[in-house]
Amino acid sequence: MSIPVPHSPLPLGGRHIVLGLSGGIACYKSAELVRELQRAGASVQVVMTEAACRFITPVTMQALSGQSVVTDQWDAREPNNMAHINLSRGADAILVAPASADFIAKLCQGRADEVLSLLCLARPVGACPLLLAPAMNREMWEHPATRRNIAQAVADGATVFGPGSGDQACGEVGDGRMLEATEIRDELIAFFQPKLLAGRRVLITAGPTFEAIDPVRGITNLSSGKMGFAIARAAQEAGAEVTLVAGPVHLATPRHVQRIDVQSAQQMHDAVLPLAAAHDVFVATAAVADWRPASAAGEKIKKDGSGAAPALRFSENPDILAAVARLPDRPYCVGFAAESHDLARHAREKRLRKNVPLLVGNLGPATFGRDDNSLLLVDADGERGLPPADKLSLARELVREIAARLRAPLVSA
Ligand code: C5P
Repeated sequence: MSIPVPHSPLPLGGRHIVLGLSGGIACYKSAELVRELQRAGASVQVVMTEAACRFITPVTMQALSGQSVVTDQWDAREPNNMAHINLSRGADAILVAPASADFIAKLCQGRADEVLSLLCLARPVGACPLLLAPAMNREMWEHPATRRNIAQAVADGATVFGPGSGDQACGEVGDGRMLEATEIRDELIAFFQPKLLAGRRVLITAGPTFEAIDPVRGITNLSSGKMGFAIARAAQEAGAEVTLVAGPVHLATPRHVQRIDVQSAQQMHDAVLPLAAAHDVFVATAAVADWRPASAAGEKIKKDGSGAAPALRFSENPDILAAVARLPDRPYCVGFAAESHDLARHAREKRLRKNVPLLVGNLGPATFGRDDNSLLLVDADGERGLPPADKLSLARELVREIAARLRAPLVSA
């Protein structure tokens, strides 16, 4: 199914979502979900089963969504009295959150005895995806009947978001919690991204490195890791299996991304090199320290009262990108250059020096720690600037550029 992305700066801009609620305590999260979907640009039409109305009122959902809630298949407000047809024809997706065990069982049997299941059955399968965010007790989730039903729902074309794991309303702990509203929002945003890297494996370095001087001090830099984390998220949204090797940063791991935390350049090198050849793409966004103290002191270096500063000697760190680019079965390598001036010239030179097909330049002082950036893409054919935007938008654009180059035959570095 090809889902065109409407042109909007908001990730769900132009999307119309039918949000279905079946019965479960997780209905309280659906109120927040309406808000999150709207903030992301979507318009939301809420449909509720009778059981859902026991947990949260249609009044609440109407006030939040700004649209009358549909609770009855016999709703005479619809001029043709066919809410189940009208609602699904205009929708970009039907998202059922929470999807109870009972509701999923009904879907699998093709039953349609109330408005939400009727709507799901009546949707045009090729044009209106069905997305389920299950919510139930862990025993219900693990039950063979539910396992069967979930497998059947997926075989029938549904996509399942989650469930999450953790504390449950019943007091038990385990799998079956509905994802949080922000997680469902992000799953939905990812769902609509074109799967340009489906089946590809992408390895990314991000953040600064930390080179120890002694047990309490070290040398690092101002890289926040935001650009690399955004690329990891964008690549995952595009269908890739993503491994992210991160220096010391305080950022949440993008959903479904495998993260390996390291401190020093040597550790980053040792984590990356054994993995590199098994990946299709390597994106080196990390701001790796070129030098490290030749030997880190085992104990904190103390002032000796003489006023003399300790003499630090340095050793050169391995160049991770250049080492990956030298591998005989190397992945498609993308380097970054953080410069303070003469960006295009430095980026061109760095691309040749590192022997990589694509080098992405940005101005270090202007981007470190910020949410926005602008990029200059340099390859054998020339240069292309990506104008200022938030890092996630730029990351998605970069992913498109990388995917296009993967499809094209590689002529030379
Ligand atoms: O040489 P320079 O540090 O300017 O090159 C930047 C590019 O090389 C970035 O892609 C960075 O992640 C990568 N790099 C590396 N290992 C190093 C130094 C830089 O992978 N030791």
